[in-house]
Amino acid sequence: MAERLQAPKGTYDVLPDQAAARRLVERSCEEILGGAGFRRVETPIFEHTELFARGVGDATDIVSKEMYTFEDAGDRSLTLRPEGTAPIMRAYHEHGLHKEPQPVKLWYFGPFFRRERPQAGRFRQFWQVGAETIGSDDPSADAESIVLLQAILSALGVQGARLRLATLGTPERRAGYRELLVAYLREHEDRLSDEVRSRIDQNPLRAFDADHPGTREVMAGAPLLIDHLDQEDLDHFAEVRERLDAAGIAYEVDPTLVRGLDYYTRTLFEFTSDALGAQSGVGGGGRYDRLAEQLGNKPTPGVGFAAGIERLLLAGDIDPIVAARAAERPVDVYIAADGAEAFALAQQARAAGLTARLDLAGRSAKGATKQAARLGARHLVLSSDTDMILKDMESTEEAAVAAGEIVSRILRERHAA
Ligand code: HAM
Repeated sequence: MAERLQAPKGTYDVLPDQAAARRLVERSCEEILGGAGFRRVETPIFEHTELFARGVGDATDIVSKEMYTFEDAGDRSLTLRPEGTAPIMRAYHEHGLHKEPQPVKLWYFGPFFRRERPQAGRFRQFWQVGAETIGSDDPSADAESIVLLQAILSALGVQGARLRLATLGTPERRAGYRELLVAYLREHEDRLSDEVRSRIDQNPLRAFDADHPGTREVMAGAPLLIDHLDQEDLDHFAEVRERLDAAGIAYEVDPTLVRGLDYYTRTLFEFTSDALGAQSGVGGGGRYDRLAEQLGNKPTPGVGFAAGIERLLLAGDIDPIVAARAAERPVDVYIAADGAEAFALAQQARAAGLTARLDLAGRSAKGATKQAARLGARHLVLSSDTDMILKDMESTEEAAVAAGEIVSRILRERHAA
């Protein structure tokens, strides 16, 4: 026998019971985001590699290590999308959405791909819900993103969610600060982990994220970006916080918050949940006012978030069995008669709006009765020599009925009930 094939590492199958729970998540997102004026969009699963190299940034782990990149027969370098913000910004300009009344609010729900080491809550194909507000730099747009992500977390019963908040300021200010930080790291180089030391020039901010004890000690005394920002950026941040306070959202300002994407400017946020293990980030986002220019478009501010569906399901309290039951449609009629006539009956029943199941396993009358009971069917149709037998599964009454009469009879009974 040939070797049995399995799904690739880091991927998973969504089986029918889990599909119902995921649909519930999708519906909650749709209600919450749709209610706030976000419109759903879909962008392609693969994009030109350059979109992410420029948008997310060459120096990030995502672009330098984790992308599924391939060349097609036309020698174009293509990449399975690792995130959704750069594609949405591309689509916004490509389709003239910048000419609509601003801001344009869009949401998405779909699969993304990163070649990370698989573990609980971390996959190589995972799903995200995301929402982007493009064309506004109003601090209310930032606060609205956070409030909506929070609303999704509470609708799904995510336990122990904690919000961390930071601000990054403009890239120019960040560049000045970066030099300071690089100089500080060089000064203390001998106490840093090998990994942080080898990446001082590429990504000095990542040092704040390290677990290595020596590095952590050094970072406790490191200069902080927040002490080196423009007044305008600090004011913007204060206004975002004011709105969150007004909305009663609890948060912790964490000047060392680091996210793995280079397009962020100003507001940065992340929700973690105690209910998740090491991969505690359930969702996050921020403002990306320079992304449009990096993609060759005119300057356009934007802010948004994304949350991982697997992590929402892990940290939330949706019972997959209850969700599956709720999604099931009751079976009106189970048809276990023979031949083309039974087949046609199933189609007539469906055309009349009934849920009909046709027996495809050649069950005996006894087996079919058992199966109809298992499915909770209201009626069962069996063959007889002349007519068909229509059985009411509740009262167990049986009647011989002509095939052409069965659908109208069930409908009549349904109306009478
Ligand atoms: P991100 O933090 O890279 O942000 O991803 C958002 C969420 O996707 C994470 O919080 C996590 O729940 C989930 N996630 C990421 N990687 C994996 C993985 N390998 N397995 C399972 N879940 C994962 C972004 O992607 C930005 N585009 C968010 C954003 C939107 N910023 C502004 N607008």
